[in-house]
Amino acid sequence: MKLDVVILAAGCGTRMHSNTPKVLHQLAGKPLLAHVIETAHSLDPNQVHVVYGHQGERVKHTLSSMEVNWIEQKEQLGTGHAVLQALPFIDKDSQVLVLYGDVPLITKPLLLKLLDSTSLEGVGIISVMVTDPTGLGRIIRDNSGNLSAIVEHKDATDAELLIHEINSGILTASAKSLHDWLPKLKNNNSQSEFYLTDLITLAASEKHSVIAVLSETEEEVKGVNNRVQLMQLERFHQRKLAHALLTQGVCVYDPDRFDCRGNLQAGRDTEIDINVLIEGEVVLGSNCYIGPNVILRNTTIADNVTIRANSILEDSQVDEGAVIGPFARLRPETKVAKNGKIGNFVEIKKAHIGENSKVNHLSYVGDATVGTNVNIGAGTITCNYDGVNKHQTIIEDGAFIGSGTQLVAPVKVAMQATIGAGSVITTDAPAEQLTLTRAKQRTISAWQRPTKQSEK
Ligand code: UD1
Ligand code: CA
Repeated sequence: MKLDVVILAAGCGTRMHSNTPKVLHQLAGKPLLAHVIETAHSLDPNQVHVVYGHQGERVKHTLSSMEVNWIEQKEQLGTGHAVLQALPFIDKDSQVLVLYGDVPLITKPLLLKLLDSTSLEGVGIISVMVTDPTGLGRIIRDNSGNLSAIVEHKDATDAELLIHEINSGILTASAKSLHDWLPKLKNNNSQSEFYLTDLITLAASEKHSVIAVLSETEEEVKGVNNRVQLMQLERFHQRKLAHALLTQGVCVYDPDRFDCRGNLQAGRDTEIDINVLIEGEVVLGSNCYIGPNVILRNTTIADNVTIRANSILEDSQVDEGAVIGPFARLRPETKVAKNGKIGNFVEIKKAHIGENSKVNHLSYVGDATVGTNVNIGAGTITCNYDGVNKHQTIIEDGAFIGSGTQLVAPVKVAMQATIGAGSVITTDAPAEQLTLTRAKQRTISAWQRPTKQSEK
């Protein structure tokens, strides 16, 4: 079956109280509309059409990388009018699926069920039972339980207002039927809008089949109108991701304190402690431990790695058995090789730390290549920047850098060299020897410590 998806996104979202258009507000780090477009594409349609209006240029610009046919609806005259704008772009032999740009968590299985259940010349919608139906379209069923109409909250009678089965807004019909029916819609209702939902009565009156597929979860079909609803869906989504990880053998200590704003792949027996934030593309091996408050962004971590609390890793790679943190920061283009150790208050940038090498305390290593079995003492700094250019520091295998050393790049410390503590190294240090720069220590015996007035 040929499918065209039409996503309605022209509304302005007044209740968000925001300068950002509603469909650009983010859920799991991605605009609401991007979620819907991705789900639409997962159905492998002929085309995905987005009907836009309010702040359309900004919406188009933000989502410019997505494959979409953008259709402007100049005036928002209702959902029926919005779909009508898309019809000229759709082949007559296509099936049309209408989604909402502000219903971000709709799933592919539920949409496939809707498409499967709807007959060729009929209409299908997705409905759901809700505890509070305020503001939503009510599902009216006849005596035999068949769908007969959808009545908007503002047009409903007292009896109809008691109905808790509501219309999600998601609808499907053939392009051919929509060509017949949409121009017949009237706006003689309390909002003077052309309601897409009136198709139900139209189709039923012409003896076509109208069906409602009931969604089992409210959140999957729930629209976002305000920030409270947005955050409810965010938590639902995060809990769902955490549960999926748990099911695969990854331990998420507290699914309510887990946030993934991107894609996470994790191996079995890996443990993710509380308040971990995942951003972008993150891969974790098996048997890793990710401590509390760790942020991982576009980072790949191999098996048996420990990342201790409060560490931040960005665009980095950590190999097997390495231990990072607590309070470590790995900035972009860092690679820590097998069994490497990066300790507390250490910042690494654009550097390769070789196998079994250690940078354990309070150091900055940037634009550097560090060999294997190197020990970098506390408070070591690569002075990589002269105010204009960045220079490289090379530390070869087995070198030992004494604490408090400053390595003024470009500079090289050769194999097995030892650098005495407190040195400022400005030229290359030869292999296997002790190199140090240090002023002679002296003691001034007649010196008196200053005293405070009050102590006199
Ligand atoms: C609509 C449904 C209602 C359903 C509810 C679910 C109609 C008449 N009513 O009501 O039965 O329970 O959704 O959330 O369809 N839009 C446009 N152009 C327009 C009007 C709307 O693109 O001219 C878009 C909006 O941006 C939004 C969606 O269509 O994404 C729904 O519009 P909205 O005005 O929120 O409809 P509701 O009154 O909530
Ligand atoms: Ca709405």
